[in-house]
Amino acid sequence: MTEDQRNIILVGFMGTGKSATAKIVARRLEREFVDMDAVIEIRAGKPISRIFREDGEAEFRRMERDLVVELSKKRNLVIAAGGGVVLNPDNVRDFQTSGVMICLNASPAVILQRLRDDDRRPLLEHGEKARRIAEILEQRRLLYESIPYQVDTTFLSPETTADRVIEIFSQA
Ligand code: S3P
Repeated sequence: MTEDQRNIILVGFMGTGKSATAKIVARRLEREFVDMDAVIEIRAGKPISRIFREDGEAEFRRMERDLVVELSKKRNLVIAAGGGVVLNPDNVRDFQTSGVMICLNASPAVILQRLRDDDRRPLLEHGEKARRIAEILEQRRLLYESIPYQVDTTFLSPETTADRVIEIFSQA
């Protein structure tokens, strides 16, 4: 039997465990791991927060879009996407044709707990963090819900989330 080369793409809100999980999945399946935010930071030569501040969110979304196009031409990857990748329907379409997209989610309280000391998320910089998380989650709720495969990581470790992801992938 030929090996399944479809990409595995983890999407979902900030703090749902995409990067930690994708890294474990990649290691277990002996695949290349791609953290989209990390690639964008290397290419831009600065952290995401500075890209937002100096170049604007629209420029960040363009860089993100270009990377989706590039990654969607490859196979055998495990990709941790940025939380806002679902905002562009072209991204969702391209990822869906290149592999299996799985959406991680978690309760707002756990997201807050995981991001409490984080200062690398420009969208949460202004205003009260809990309020910003609730607002953005609500704005994007339908976009995340429309992804066919979902894993709730509220009570799961990245290791257990990785088990679920691999199971979903093998049955998808
Ligand atoms: C964003 C999520 C971040 C990063 C950027 C924008 C978003 O990625 O791409 O700060 O719009 O939700 P993580 O989900 O990896 O934190």
